[in-house]
Amino acid sequence: MVLERYFENRREIINRALDRYLPPDDTYPQKIHKAMRYSIFAGGKRLRPIFMIATYEMLLNRRDKRSIQKILPVACAIEMLHTASLIHDDLPFIDNAGERRGKPSCHKKFGNAIAILTGDALITQSFETVLKLRNHKKALSCLEILLNASSTRGMIGGQVVDIISSQKRVKLHVLRDIHLKKTGALLKASEQLACVMANANEQITNALADFALNIGLAYQVIDDILDEVGADELLYKESGEDHRNEKVTYPVLLGIEESKKQALKLIHDASNIIKYMPNNDVLMEILETIRDRIP
Ligand code: IPE
Ligand code: IPE
Ligand code: MG
Ligand code: MG
Ligand code: MG
Repeated sequence: MVLERYFENRREIINRALDRYLPPDDTYPQKIHKAMRYSIFAGGKRLRPIFMIATYEMLLNRRDKRSIQKILPVACAIEMLHTASLIHDDLPFIDNAGERRGKPSCHKKFGNAIAILTGDALITQSFETVLKLRNHKKALSCLEILLNASSTRGMIGGQVVDIISSQKRVKLHVLRDIHLKKTGALLKASEQLACVMANANEQITNALADFALNIGLAYQVIDDILDEVGADELLYKESGEDHRNEKVTYPVLLGIEESKKQALKLIHDASNIIKYMPNNDVLMEILETIRDRIP
């Protein structure tokens, strides 16, 4: 990968900022702060904050460490929300997954009650973190984007329909809507947040939101494929989760080969949206790394 050092560097900056914005684990009540830090620092590719930072840098045509300092509260907020969604997703009464990010999942390590509260705490910490922005007008716009993305119209809504659809043979358009919400909503928020912070106009914001939804759907279709073919090393967890939970997935409805074709088409459509945008090289590279996940 050409931009390996760029990604590594942005990941390090995000990790250091997360460390600053999370309560220290010796702060009372230590248990919850330990659990929040455990799940945040268990690993994680930091796809959403990197995506946001890369878009911000593209829009400003500036790529230096200093210019991204002021957007770090927003970048960390989206990662906290995402991590909260994973902790809740793994709970025994949702997907019942024992591993996450290559480690025991939060409830395996800390118990169900603490895991529920750890997800809750990361959600409130996310909103608190975004309010650390010096520009209060921008903070409010970002908060609105995060609330909308995580709401019953977004990620939570997608997760609900995902759960109540298990053991049912839902149609493709319903599954597409589940994926666009449970996974697409937070990726779309990453782009909208970058646009607010870079003062992008409405036309660019809408184009990038659309770009993110294509990526979100592709990403979840590929996740379904990886779970089906047993790619534990790419998922950093035990595969076969969807079969165990009798979930309807793209591979179940369309088969593996057609699912791969659909994922490729979505990535192609996404690249068409940003093709003529200046300084798009990092976003193009992100698309390539997502495409490379297709087995
Ligand atoms: C996992 O997201 C959940 C899905 C949307 C498939 P990631 O693949 O971004 O997981 P982490 O953050 O790197 O652990
Ligand atoms: C989870 O989808 C999406 C969210 C957590 C919002 P999955 O249930 O397929 O994600 P994994 O496979 O557990 O990472
Ligand atoms: Mg799930
Ligand atoms: Mg799951
Ligand atoms: Mg999955």
